[in-house]
Amino acid sequence: MSKLELKNIHQSFPSKKQTTMVLSDISLKVNDGEFVSIIGPSGSGKSTLFHIIGGLLMPTSGEVLLDGTPVTGQKGLISYMPQQPALFPWRSIEENVILAQEVAGIARDHALAAAREWLPRVGLGGYEKELPHVLSGGMQQRVSFLRALLSPKELMCLDEPFGALDALTRQEMQAWLLNIWEQNKRSILFVTHSIEEALYLSDRIYVLSNKPSTVLEELVVPFGRPRQEAIMKDVLFQELRQHIQGHLRKEVQHDQGR
Ligand SMILES: Nc1ncnc2c1ncn2[C@@H]1O[C@H](COP(=O)(O)OP(=O)(O)O)[C@@H](O)[C@H]1O
Ligand SMILES: [Mg+2]
Repeated sequence: MSKLELKNIHQSFPSKKQTTMVLSDISLKVNDGEFVSIIGPSGSGKSTLFHIIGGLLMPTSGEVLLDGTPVTGQKGLISYMPQQPALFPWRSIEENVILAQEVAGIARDHALAAAREWLPRVGLGGYEKELPHVLSGGMQQRVSFLRALLSPKELMCLDEPFGALDALTRQEMQAWLLNIWEQNKRSILFVTHSIEEALYLSDRIYVLSNKPSTVLEELVVPFGRPRQEAIMKDVLFQELRQHIQGHLRKEVQHDQGR
């Protein structure tokens, strides 16, 4: 059974001067326990797509299905990690982690117990009572990620979660995410700019065009699990990277040519 399915999603934003077409007939799916990435040029509507999946935005046309049930425009069905960590500055780290659980109606004691169990596992033991401002960017991302992970929703949508991190922290976080995901196998839809990141983490990748964006290609990643970082040195990995890069480079040239 398919967990998430988007069918023929179109999105345009009308304004006085002109209507901007952002998404043009996007169809994709995330199967049960699958790690799927979306990669596309900046401004191609990836965050917009997440807003539609999360029910924050009603698509101009098209349908969102969860487990085969139409849920277009319904909020609160997925776990969502936004592009920025979006922590509440006045809430302690553990209180930030339990937010999604609280919203879902899980008892505070129970939620706090889960947060306290997980925080040390992500290198944040001892920070439970601190406020977000004492944490580095990478640490804040981990708090935001834990919040999404502990939310009792089957599907996690992560919007460029590591985009703002330096290369080294980013590598650590990727390995860490992979490890946690391989233990839990939640369905994940992951947006990224980085071709390497998408190839390293995903089961499947959708490559989007410039806006009005369409799916240029759906690619099945041929590497097994558990994944090792060493696959990045594999010849096949490099070939696939170049293949996707070719697609995206054409998009950038096309954009500049307009
Ligand atoms: N509410 C809105 N009204 C008008 N235009 C919007 C709105 N939301 C997004 N857009 C436009 O949609 C395009 C895609 O934005 P976004 O989804 O953030 O792209 P990405 O996440 O792929 O970088 C941008 O050109 C942006 O200006
Ligand atoms: Mg975005």
